[in-house]
Amino acid sequence: MKKVTAIYPGSFDPPTNGHLDLIERGSKIFDELMVAILRNPDKSPLFTVGERRKMLEDLTEEFKNVRVDTFDGLTVDYAAKVKASAVLRGIRALSDYEYELQMALMNRKLRPELETVFMMPAEKYSYLSSRLVREVARLGGDVSKLVPELVEQRLKEKLDPAYKLSNRKTKVGRA
Ligand code: PNS
Repeated sequence: MKKVTAIYPGSFDPPTNGHLDLIERGSKIFDELMVAILRNPDKSPLFTVGERRKMLEDLTEEFKNVRVDTFDGLTVDYAAKVKASAVLRGIRALSDYEYELQMALMNRKLRPELETVFMMPAEKYSYLSSRLVREVARLGGDVSKLVPELVEQRLKEKLDPAYKLSNRKTKVGRA
């Protein structure tokens, strides 16, 4: 039987519990799911593409049919390169719909054989976005319920250099 590969493109800056929820759902319906991080030179991200890739690789280790990759250029061209027949995107609320519909229809125009599949993350994540996570973390708020522990750790290291230093000292001291 033909294997169905899907790509899940996005910025993932940083990956959130909502992203992980969608990856888990996607891994159940597609034979292979490629989480594809956009290398976007126009944006100034909090995490480098390499850092995001490493986080996503660690976070998706348990899903044997999920891989992590990076891409630039058009999503449809990347999909063709990895022989994907579907694009997975999450819709959290009605507010996502217009932008997602526009993108899906443009992608269909560019490559009609590529289907976009929308999935809803658990409703407890319906307000969650990487942008809000960055903002809350920057302002010292608690993001422990919004992102995996690993990401919370990386956010602390990124936003509070003193935290990284004190953690390193503890580890060295223990060794
Ligand atoms: O996580 P994001 O930032 O909502 O993801 C947006 C993404 C990466 C899916 C979108 O910007 C994209 O597909 N960019 C690649 C360039 C492209 O194909 N543009 C035309 C899409 S209609």
